[in-house]
Amino acid sequence: MKSKHPSLGTNTTALVTFFAAIIFAFIYWIHFHTGGGGLSTTEELKSDLAAIEASKPASQKGAETEVDLNALLSDANALNQGQAVYAARCAACHGQNGEGQIGPNLTDNFWIHGGGQIADVVQVVRTGVTAKGMPAWDTMISGSEINSVSAYIVSLKGSNPANAKAAEGTEVK
Ligand code: HEC
Repeated sequence: MKSKHPSLGTNTTALVTFFAAIIFAFIYWIHFHTGGGGLSTTEELKSDLAAIEASKPASQKGAETEVDLNALLSDANALNQGQAVYAARCAACHGQNGEGQIGPNLTDNFWIHGGGQIADVVQVVRTGVTAKGMPAWDTMISGSEINSVSAYIVSLKGSNPANAKAAEGTEVK
């Protein structure tokens, strides 16, 4: 049977779809922007970034504070990385085991620069003592390599390697 208004059915469907889309968009907007349960995209991004940061090993975090640096001393990955950096970049002048050669012994309690805390070591490794032949490593290795090689050096304290070079600097007790 032919409808009196053949176009009515089609128009009604279009209108219903149109209003449903508006209502859906409105609910969607409420949901994501007014704290109606879900996280907003900004909040999601923040929590994702926090999760990524938390999943990194300590050796890759922005280890700028003394506390973070000291944590490297018990981080086996950081110490392994530090040992590899040391062997490749430092051993030529400071000896295979830190006993000292061209550069000073790094295993004793005597320090020319700073007091042997990991932050002191990071500082001298970064800026070097170019006038005395210690390169500035700042631009040559990454910040995390500087942190981990410094942790490795601090871990050598008291290791008494063979052929240790005579103490230089001030004793730190
Ligand atoms: C070309 C030789 C050379 C290389 C390579 C070298 N050093 Fe040195 N380093 C020195 C010399 C020389 C000194 C002593 C500077 C001074 O007398 O003030 C020194 C001093 C230091 C000190 C301070 C010691 C103290 O008693 O205060 C630290 C720490 C140190 N180096 C770490 C490193 C690390 C880590 C590396 C590798 C990334 C490295 N050095 C590579 C020559 C070198």
